[in-house]
Amino acid sequence: MADAAIKKATLHVRRGAPAEAAHYDDFAVPYEDGMSVLDALRWIRIHLDSTLAIRYSCINANACKTCMALVNGEVEYTCIAKLTPELTTVEPLPKRPLIRDLVTDILPEDEKF
Ligand code: FES
Repeated sequence: MADAAIKKATLHVRRGAPAEAAHYDDFAVPYEDGMSVLDALRWIRIHLDSTLAIRYSCINANACKTCMALVNGEVEYTCIAKLTPELTTVEPLPKRPLIRDLVTDILPEDEKF
């Protein structure tokens, strides 16, 4: 299949660590109906940028609760948030300490050593 025939989705992803100026990178990923935002983020890590920091564990089981991020301004589990062929903005959780890119510190205070 010619590359032009493959549907693409674009992710607009906030990048950076706490001591750095935040910026956004855009990534075009092959789009298929039923894909999750996490599917697209994992594709980016494998094919485009292995430095993109994301966190997940159970993948689509909605059990681990580690994949939360802002998707188009709403708090979502990226593993169940449906990707659309339009531009999707993905950002770290705003009320949690940023670690890097889309990873925030989500441990409750009483579970930290
Ligand atoms: S990866 Fe486990 S809830 Fe999303």
